[in-house]
Amino acid sequence: MSGTDRAAVVAGVGAWVPPAVVTNEALAERLDTSDEWIRSRTGIRRRHVIAPGGATSDLAVEAGRRALESAGADDADVVVVATSTPDRPCPATAPEVASRLGLTGVAAFDVAAVCTGFVYALGVAGGMIASGFARTALVIGADTFSTILDPLDRTTRAIFGDGAGAVFLRAGRPTEPGALMGLRLGSDGTRSELIEVKAGGSRQRSTGLPARDRDTYFRMEGRPVFAHAVRRMATSVRATAAEVGWAPADIHRVVLHQANARILAAVAEQIDVPAECFPSNIDRVGNTVAASVPLVLADACVSGELSPGQRIVLGGFGGGLTWGSVALVWPDVTAIRSDAAPVSPSPTDY
Ligand code: UT7
Repeated sequence: MSGTDRAAVVAGVGAWVPPAVVTNEALAERLDTSDEWIRSRTGIRRRHVIAPGGATSDLAVEAGRRALESAGADDADVVVVATSTPDRPCPATAPEVASRLGLTGVAAFDVAAVCTGFVYALGVAGGMIASGFARTALVIGADTFSTILDPLDRTTRAIFGDGAGAVFLRAGRPTEPGALMGLRLGSDGTRSELIEVKAGGSRQRSTGLPARDRDTYFRMEGRPVFAHAVRRMATSVRATAAEVGWAPADIHRVVLHQANARILAAVAEQIDVPAECFPSNIDRVGNTVAASVPLVLADACVSGELSPGQRIVLGGFGGGLTWGSVALVWPDVTAIRSDAAPVSPSPTDY
């Protein structure tokens, strides 16, 4: 997205999480785990989950509406939804989200790169703007992993939560605050088995049987994924910063996918940027997959951890394996981050 006089510029940020909150203590009542284990191994204290009957588009619409409002926009040429939990395997979720936002008729499609989905979607939408195809784009990351977790699997139930975040992009100059710079995306499909849902795609088709098979649940090999996450995000963030001419000391904030507080600390050490420069909301929302990066971006904006003029690098890592990063100087935007009052769900609802 560099080398031309046209760039995609961040002009609005919004996020939303569903009201039902599941604490570590509530999980420990139903699974062989503890608040102490979850907090010390991940940094997570609680997560939000969607209500029964709800779907990813519901969250995406809330976040998208807030990003449009943040930008003072009521229109977008393109709507991209990054998700690995679409409302249905077919069609994509984005057209429905666009229509529910009053944008029937615009280009709308999903991007699937699991926890790197939002960074990939920024790249795709940003490229459409930089090429002149679009003037504006609404980029949403939304996931509801609570709907695909094995209720008996403490290794995933402790980590994942539901949520959505969104950024509004407009065409601008590469030199202005908010312009996306130094985009890097990567993948390694030889390790796709580390993070997967085995069934439901063309490789292992639905049997049509009523019983829910374990292969329809999400599974992850945490330990090797941890090592890949640290290495890939550190390398990607370092390369993006170098591409835009920033030394580690020039970076004010590194806004990473929130998978584990220990991963953030390890990346900080590897790239030689102080851990205090890594905004985090993982204690409150857990790992929200494609929603994670825009959600922590919105939270950091609201808390004042991000302020106009700061040099920031966004980074993600996830299933695929996939990873990516992008740099920008933080623009003068007001994030909209208003949630409904929290509620405690019935134990049978998560
Ligand atoms: O978002 C996409 C990318 N995802 C990530 O980056 C996640 C990366 N991985 C991780 O964050 C960590 O590997 C986890 C948090 C998933 C797991 O932490 P860990 O320290 O790597 O634990 P482990 O998987 O090596 O398991 C250690 C022990 C095992 O017990 P045994 O076999 O030693 O008896 C697990 O069964 O901890 C056990 N364990 C738990 N115990 C209590 C795993 N989950 C839990 C739990 N409560 N929730």
